[in-house]
Amino acid sequence: MALRHFSVKAFLFFGLCQVGHRGFAFAAEVREAPKKIAIIGGGIGGTAAAFFLRQEFGPAVKIEVFEAGTVGGRLATENIGGNEYETGGSVIHPLNLHMKHFLERLGMSPRADVPSKLAIFDGKELTFEESDWFLVNFIRMLWSYGFNFVRMHMWVEGILDKFMRIYQYQQFGYSFSSVEKLLHAMGGDSFLTLVNQTLEEAMLAEGFSQVFLNDIVTPVTRVNYGQTVRVNGFVGAVALAGAESGLWAVEGGNKLVCSGLLYHSKAELVPARVTAVTMKTRPSKTGSTASFYEVNYVGESGAAHSMYDIVVVATPLHQGLSDINFSGFSPPIPSHFPGRYHQTVATLVHGLLNVSYLGSLEKPDNFFVSDVLTLDSKDSDIYSLSSLSPVKIPKDYSPSPASERKVWKIFSSQPLTQKNLQQIFLSWDSVWEKRWLAYPSYSPPHRRTPPFILHDRLYYLNAVEWAASAMEMSAISARNLALLAHHRWYEQTAKIDQEDLHTRLRGEL
Ligand SMILES: Cc1cc2nc3c(=O)[nH]c(=O)nc-3n(C[C@H](O)[C@H](O)[C@H](O)COP(=O)(O)OP(=O)(O)OC[C@H]3O[C@@H](n4cnc5c(N)ncnc54)[C@H](O)[C@@H]3O)c2cc1C
Ligand SMILES: *[C@@H]1O[C@H](CO)[C@@H](O)[C@H](O)[C@H]1NC(C)=O
Ligand SMILES: *[C@@H]1O[C@H](CO)[C@@H](O)[C@H](O)[C@H]1NC(C)=O
Ligand SMILES: *[C@@H]1O[C@H](CO)[C@@H](O)[C@H](O)[C@H]1NC(C)=O
Repeated sequence: MALRHFSVKAFLFFGLCQVGHRGFAFAAEVREAPKKIAIIGGGIGGTAAAFFLRQEFGPAVKIEVFEAGTVGGRLATENIGGNEYETGGSVIHPLNLHMKHFLERLGMSPRADVPSKLAIFDGKELTFEESDWFLVNFIRMLWSYGFNFVRMHMWVEGILDKFMRIYQYQQFGYSFSSVEKLLHAMGGDSFLTLVNQTLEEAMLAEGFSQVFLNDIVTPVTRVNYGQTVRVNGFVGAVALAGAESGLWAVEGGNKLVCSGLLYHSKAELVPARVTAVTMKTRPSKTGSTASFYEVNYVGESGAAHSMYDIVVVATPLHQGLSDINFSGFSPPIPSHFPGRYHQTVATLVHGLLNVSYLGSLEKPDNFFVSDVLTLDSKDSDIYSLSSLSPVKIPKDYSPSPASERKVWKIFSSQPLTQKNLQQIFLSWDSVWEKRWLAYPSYSPPHRRTPPFILHDRLYYLNAVEWAASAMEMSAISARNLALLAHHRWYEQTAKIDQEDLHTRLRGEL
């Protein structure tokens, strides 16, 4: 299903990322360095923030990461029959440069590639089944959808080219004070329009056919975001990029990047739930008053609190995901911002697939389809069905056919019933379920995205998810907030919200 995709520019930028970061020594140290920084949330966003804050502020500052659950957050694995499998965020795009960079810095490796085969299911039968032959797929697509398919790759590539600009800006130390400004710096007004209209509107306006949207694009938004082509155009493009070739994952499990970043940044993990952040002022040595943030938390040894100069909130401020009471702020900061998160249920089943459920007449021992995407039809109860490989690929591993008992992952909006399972599987010996509040429920046109800056030195990383939710988006937001926190601390306004960076930096390459 994937066409090769390459961007020379992107590789140049990747090269840049390896040059090493700007030292914090550059900072005009007019002000004392911050002493303590708190990060609330130990997912990829919070741990990447620890990494980049250490890079910006140097070795002396104390960085503490509060985590109420498990380090990794929405990157998680589950043990089934002695092997670990990804249950949350699983694939990474080849041009997600921060994720790549983390792997290199942490001395970790990408997982070995396993051949995969894709099909699309309408609830009754497979409407598309990938052939082993690239040319066959290509001709089938051309036959059914004309040049829509080729043009889609060009469209996504055009967006990706602009997206890649953020790495250069960040390399030069530039930061942005809002999601809108960050998007505008990457793709100008066209990116702002893209987040404020549906993928469907954006693609129809580009001349794609409705049939193509229903048959090909919808299955992709369903598997990646559990939603239809009514998601915003930007996250839609991210989803389409997530259906390209060259996707990868981390050997041993994606969540290992989080614990790796924590360790590497020499941040201290505080296993506790933050309940409140309160503004406090106290007289300083110079006679004026200084303000601090008091973080209240509940850990194993009960309730406690500490004071910080800078706080980064790295969890969504939404119902069911966190419940933090912000007090003493004017204007007030809500515990929950408008909008809700979409439920995606991940069910892992170790069992034997009923190939007839998919309407396939193929013999199970010839059935090698690994990823079944679904159309938006009343007959499909599920978003997707995939055969999983373990996070550590054993030597000589090759995907087994459907005639063998293996681990399948199903995404659905509702928990699967016993009846659902009986339809899909001939038999099974274990079922594991996780109900994720997975990503925002996107419904553009939208209200303003939540702010990055909640208060003077209090930042909100997950605001970025309203443009698109992905590991790399959290990492980009983490780098942006580390730069922003640094520049605001040292009052280096020339590195914040600069216009026209793309033109100005062109000569720098
Ligand atoms: C099923 C699923 C599939 C996905 N697939 C992909 C994919 O293939 N590729 C991709 O790039 N992305 C994917 N995503 C999205 C990706 O996983 C997320 O965008 C990313 O992991 C978000 O990371 P984060 O650190 O910003 O947030 P989180 O991972 O949610 O981290 C927030 C952390 O904060 C903690 N926390 C919350 N409240 C408090 C509190 N009060 N005190 C202390 N700690 C607190 C939580 O326990 C959590 O660990 C998927 C997500 C899901 C759920
Ligand atoms: C939040 O804090 C304020 C001030 O301490 C308190 O009055 C209020 O009851 C708290 N709200 C919740 C939901 O805990
Ligand atoms: C397999 O699925 C087919 C089609 O849904 C169904 O008719 C059949 O009963 C199922 N087989 C078993 C053993 O459940
Ligand atoms: C999004 O579109 C709506 C109406 O379509 C408009 O009112 C709003 O200002 C737009 N928001 C942004 C951020 O462009």
